[in-house]
Amino acid sequence: MTPTSMAEKPHAVLVPFPAQGHINPFLKLAKLLHSKGFHITFVNTEYNHKRLLKSGDPNSLDGLPGFRFETIPEGLSTTGDANATQPVPSLCQSTKNKCLAPFRELLHKLNHGPSSNGPPVTCIVSDGVMSFTLRASEELGIPNVVFWTTSACGFMGYKQCSNLMESGIIPFKDSNYIKDGCLETNVDWIRGKKRIRMKDLPILIRTTNPNDIILNFLHGEVEAASRASAIILHTFDALERDVLDALSSMFPCNIYAIGPLQLHLDQSKESNLKHIGSSLWKEDDYCVEWLDSKDPKSVVYVNFGSVRVLTQEEIIELAWGLANSKRSFLWVIRPDLVEGGAEALPLDFIHETRESSLMARWCPQERVLNHPSIGGFLTHCGWNSTIESISAGVPMVCWPFSSEQRPNCLYACSEWGIGLGMDGDGISRDEVEKLVRELMGGEKGKMMKDKAMEWKRKAQDATSPGGSSYLNLERLLYETLQIKN
Ligand code: UDX
Repeated sequence: MTPTSMAEKPHAVLVPFPAQGHINPFLKLAKLLHSKGFHITFVNTEYNHKRLLKSGDPNSLDGLPGFRFETIPEGLSTTGDANATQPVPSLCQSTKNKCLAPFRELLHKLNHGPSSNGPPVTCIVSDGVMSFTLRASEELGIPNVVFWTTSACGFMGYKQCSNLMESGIIPFKDSNYIKDGCLETNVDWIRGKKRIRMKDLPILIRTTNPNDIILNFLHGEVEAASRASAIILHTFDALERDVLDALSSMFPCNIYAIGPLQLHLDQSKESNLKHIGSSLWKEDDYCVEWLDSKDPKSVVYVNFGSVRVLTQEEIIELAWGLANSKRSFLWVIRPDLVEGGAEALPLDFIHETRESSLMARWCPQERVLNHPSIGGFLTHCGWNSTIESISAGVPMVCWPFSSEQRPNCLYACSEWGIGLGMDGDGISRDEVEKLVRELMGGEKGKMMKDKAMEWKRKAQDATSPGGSSYLNLERLLYETLQIKN
């Protein structure tokens, strides 16, 4: 694409949901669109923008010509720690109810303000769970591409929840339904093709409350996706072909699998945006130095993303499971990871593991996963962590909890052959020890490593010129966003 003048340049406004697991893939997509000739406006919430200014290089957020940051209020009052994850149910409610008006004002400013705001806005790329933006794009008559930052199986999981709601099955009539084996019932996942139980669906189905905030919110957002000009998913065709085909028959618009985004960027020649980071916590670079001193594939990396909170009991079982496995580990313990604080860690555990292992508060995860010393990943199966692990060829122990982590875990373990599943309903030190030993040295662990390397190569192929994700991105640009050659 060769835009000849400023006025002809396409201008994309990107609007992620205000949480780490959404801002990260959105920033990657923004950089990629910029490399394709787009003027970019990246919209953060005021709260997160302040956190980004504190955690990274503040100058990088001034943006560059052709790449600007803007903010809108998310509508929550800030109390307590201004460096913590905001409560997700409150964010769902406030973005849905309070963000449209300031977003409209922002679009007006971008279209009618000084020319430094860039060319007129030509499209919106909004998060699948920020569907209030659809109204704004409909008013302006411009395309709105909805980016579900999930896997295809995760998005299908949400769609199935929505269908179960429509048919009156969930919320369950009473809690006995959740206990008495009802969760073993199969759901019609891909026209009867696969055995998927209700217990493999996102955990939000396990409710009896008709006013459950997250359940109702996601139902509305999944159904709103039908109004999008196109849907994009952060996966690639070879990984999830069956689910992608099935989803395509459920939505009226095109669905494009364009991941893994980082691998496109690794191949892109453009480097002037590399320094713009999206970590909401300050990264502890010492982790990478520490890994340099370790043998190849000798360290287990343990991290549960940006939202998950562990109970005191869980952290103690996990800690002793890791210690008893006698493997080196790098464990990231976010300041808000543990209910009541991470002081819960027993002193004798810290004493026993301090020579061989490291605990950090937040790390540059993709650098860590790609470090030769990493042999496996104990993860909650957040989709970013999963696709980053696939991109790095690292096998996993999966301990899913919320969002669409259960379908991600199921697919990692039983479809892709790169995961060992831990029972999401409980944790014991013996199970952690057993699975970590298997991951790091067992026969199954070796097979998973080979499989993970195979998927890494397939992911690289997908994002190389002529690969499926590369071509799907081109199709999105030319078919939906009407970019001229
Ligand atoms: C949430 C949901 O849990 C997830 O299932 C959904 O798909 C997106 O939103 P989160 O729980 O934070 O995300 O997990 P994950 O999807 O794995 O995203 C975490 C991101 O933070 C990753 O991109 C990871 O690289 C980054 N990260 C995490 C760091 O950079 N450093 C860390 O120390 C931890």
